[in-house]
Amino acid sequence: MAKFVCSGCGTLASGEEPPVRCPSCGAKDQYRSTDLEPVTLEEVRGRARDKLKNICAVYPVCDGGPDRICQKENYGRAIGMGGIGMGRSFRNNFLALEALHLTTRLVGESFEPSTEFDFFGRKFSMPIFGASTSGMSQYNGAISELDFCRATIRGCLEAGTLAWRGDTAFYRMDNHPGIESVEEAQGQGIPIFKPRRQEDLKVLIARAQACGAPAVGVDLDGAGSTNFARAGQPVYRKTPAEIQELVRSTQLPFIVKGIMDPDDAQACAEAGAAVIVVSNHGGRVLDSTPGTAEVLPLIVERVGHRAAVFADGGVRSGGDVLKMLALGAKAVLIGRDVIRAAIGGGEIGVALQMRHLLKTLKQAMVMTGCRDLASIGRHLLSKS
Ligand SMILES: Cc1cc2nc3c(=O)[nH]c(=O)nc-3n(C[C@H](O)[C@H](O)[C@H](O)COP(=O)(O)O)c2cc1C
Repeated sequence: MAKFVCSGCGTLASGEEPPVRCPSCGAKDQYRSTDLEPVTLEEVRGRARDKLKNICAVYPVCDGGPDRICQKENYGRAIGMGGIGMGRSFRNNFLALEALHLTTRLVGESFEPSTEFDFFGRKFSMPIFGASTSGMSQYNGAISELDFCRATIRGCLEAGTLAWRGDTAFYRMDNHPGIESVEEAQGQGIPIFKPRRQEDLKVLIARAQACGAPAVGVDLDGAGSTNFARAGQPVYRKTPAEIQELVRSTQLPFIVKGIMDPDDAQACAEAGAAVIVVSNHGGRVLDSTPGTAEVLPLIVERVGHRAAVFADGGVRSGGDVLKMLALGAKAVLIGRDVIRAAIGGGEIGVALQMRHLLKTLKQAMVMTGCRDLASIGRHLLSKS
């Protein structure tokens, strides 16, 4: 069976003949054989650069530096792909990973590293997921919101993993591309909702369970969003009792995303959260937090025995993934690089991005002598 890619939006299709019309973007006669369409990650990033003019320059190193266009002169400007305020939290994510060094361990038998990841009984090709993200339709009209969600879901599946889906102020209870895209994919995605009203959250969580999603969660660090309040959909801090109420409202493993403090992590674990994601939202919710790699070990130490601790923030390569795993994360999420891949290359762009991460993780595991995920640990790391 041949594989085809829509040149318009990157949606993939298999069959004897290419589809006439793309089911995602509606373009006619735009399907090309993937053999003829020389799609590389570099090309995808180039296309994203064109589409994201004045928002993101898709720099070789995405470090949140003050001279980057996402940060420069950002007073009063929409946050775009940058970090909040002076971008210090965004940058601290990068710097915290930058400060860690990996030790090569080369003497021994050759091996093909295993990166298979077990997530509550489901097997994935890697401990790397597409992060929950949203709001892309506001970026130069480069992609529609639903196409963006679809591209991340399908591209991650193509690479043997899953996309998490986000929630933003223009998603409404009756028009919510995050949960709708996961429903359309028959549960092959993980919806993460903003800390909305309890009653609304319970409705959304029930939809996640009904469509067969493997897990569901809330990004608690969305509590400060003024956009939601302006859009008439207030978001809230959540008490331990409210978190417990959400956990108990579903049979799905419950994820709490956006934790940077061991006491918060403990409260969430005690309330029954199965997964705690150490995250500062890519540095987008409060300026001047530490980098996630700095606080990750403290949180693993506190709750690692009772919840799976995941992490994100500044992870750009398999080497960065390895560092987060060595600090005790069970899995990592990728935000900005998956967004750029979806905007530049749709589904195939996301698949290329995730495969690149898998390839570079495997290389890093060979170079550090790690046959499988269980053999990754603190012994691989030194600090500058
Ligand atoms: C443009 C953008 C939109 C985001 N939207 C959401 C969202 O809707 N829900 C959420 O939980 N996190 C959201 N995040 C945060 C990501 O899930 C993730 O925590 C962060 O991007 C990781 O950092 P990285 O971009 O450096 O990989 C968003 C991040 C970006 C850059």
